[in-house]
Amino acid sequence: MRTHHCGELRLKDEKSTVILCGWVQEVRDTGHLIWVDLRDRYGITQLILSKDMVAPALMAQARTLGREYVLRVSGSVVVRSAKNPHIPTGEIEVVPDTIDVLSSSETPPFVVADKMAGKETLHMQYRYLDLRRKPLQENLQLRHQVVQAIHRYFDRHGFIEVETPLLVKSTPEGARDFVVPSRLHPGEHYALPQSPQLFKQLLMVSGMDRYYQIAKCFRDEDLRADRQPEFTQIDCELSFVTPADIYPLFTDFIQHIFQTVKGVSLPPFPHMTYQEAMEKYGTDKPDLRWDMPFISLTDLVKGSGFVPFDNAALVIGIKLPNGATYTRKKLDQWQRWLKENYLATTPLIYVKALPEGYKSSVAKFYTDANTTQWAKKAMLASGDMLLLLGGEIEYVREAMAALVRHIIAGERIAPSQPYAPLWITDFPLLAFDEERQAYDAIHHPFAAPVYEDIPLLATDPAKVRAQAYDLVINGAEIGGGSIRIHQRKLQNQVFQLLGLDENTIKRQFGFLLNAFRYGVPPHGGIAFGLARLCALLNNDEAIRHYIAFPKNNSGRDTMLGAPAPL
Ligand code: AMO
Repeated sequence: MRTHHCGELRLKDEKSTVILCGWVQEVRDTGHLIWVDLRDRYGITQLILSKDMVAPALMAQARTLGREYVLRVSGSVVVRSAKNPHIPTGEIEVVPDTIDVLSSSETPPFVVADKMAGKETLHMQYRYLDLRRKPLQENLQLRHQVVQAIHRYFDRHGFIEVETPLLVKSTPEGARDFVVPSRLHPGEHYALPQSPQLFKQLLMVSGMDRYYQIAKCFRDEDLRADRQPEFTQIDCELSFVTPADIYPLFTDFIQHIFQTVKGVSLPPFPHMTYQEAMEKYGTDKPDLRWDMPFISLTDLVKGSGFVPFDNAALVIGIKLPNGATYTRKKLDQWQRWLKENYLATTPLIYVKALPEGYKSSVAKFYTDANTTQWAKKAMLASGDMLLLLGGEIEYVREAMAALVRHIIAGERIAPSQPYAPLWITDFPLLAFDEERQAYDAIHHPFAAPVYEDIPLLATDPAKVRAQAYDLVINGAEIGGGSIRIHQRKLQNQVFQLLGLDENTIKRQFGFLLNAFRYGVPPHGGIAFGLARLCALLNNDEAIRHYIAFPKNNSGRDTMLGAPAPL
């Protein structure tokens, strides 16, 4: 049907006779001249018609064309008098001799343009039109390239791709299951997998050694910009490995993807324990593009009669380089923001390093020597500011971490590097749930404890560290995994700590414990969020931009009208 696509023609094609197919992006009519922009996935080619060039009937036909008509146009390539340097085909245009309308179009509900023209709800409802927009077409191409690079990488490293079923039994990953009723067994249901976790472990029992899969996962949880109920994981599992084998391999994998898809060389991936991350950044997903660690000041601020600090379990500071110029008004704004978002009742305290000395908002309570001590600990240079917050440990960490993000965004503080990857290691294995009076698994119930912590399972389970790790890049959790328990007894012990009784264990996980009777290799793995990775490669936060047909933020597909009564 066509000789070229719409992004292809250049100066060298002058005088060629060509046939193009595509959608009408726009018709511009000056009376004397008509331009039609013809668009396909590859680009835009301008058609030009004038009284001197084409028959009057063709001019008349061009005037009947509307946006999004599908055309087949034959014509000849001419050099443009006014060139458009912004598009690759900008040096030429095509003078048509025939225009076939392959399909007409009603006026579309929004203009198909690079920038979103209408309300997002409208774009979601007409997703097939939304997907005609160049940014989304490029996003899907990016995702395609990432997937190709993944297959090539794992093939080269001896992994085999195995598909695992979607009609399964609950795989606990911390969310609710989507369930599917069984026709053949009325009253019984399948669950859709929250991840292929148990299958990939069973594949290790089967001796597959190195497995990967680009796997669909389903989790019935609330949506956010980085969370969809149906999403895709790059899922991997390996036998006979320790974390020391996992880190270099998957660091290389991620570096490979960035290099092949974006030409970006990522820096080495540092390691940080969960505990250090919480103490220094108040989060298990620190964004090290801005290295603004907490400075612990608890010991230095107590006993001077300043009640909020005297009563605080933790007092921390952060240093804002060149922050001494921030005004009283700005500090008040931050204080208000803390109050509104974190119900902060404790004041936000500052120390400014000015040429004439330190100036603090609690000078009434502390001597210059006190303030100097804090400034020294924070390594405050002239012109810097120190912000202090005190209170309950968890609250102070969370509020300060959020305040740092708020200040970075509000003040447009430039990042020190475009990408800051790191491994967060040694997550706690369990967390106590007061309501259930039992432990929850922090990662999932199959993560192995750090071996020297195993005795603590009997005495102080909350202190047990897991051989679990997350890959964090730019403050986003891109992947997570663990070394698994491969001993029946230990797995049983963990199930019991999770509050599962013998019957439940047998019913839910009997197959796994049975498999563990027949020779299990030590194994471990990881899974990455594919759309999160794509979003990150494009410096984007919304994963729905990398999913062809995503759900909206209340979990609906408004195009299909799903979910719906049966
Ligand atoms: P986890 O639950 O940490 O681990 O998930 C792994 C990665 O999947 C991505 N992800 C999501 N992406 C989009 N929408 C969601 N709702 C969503 N939930 C998770 C994240 C996350 O880091 N079976 C284990 C892996 C393992 O232990 O090997 C698991 O699923 O990027």
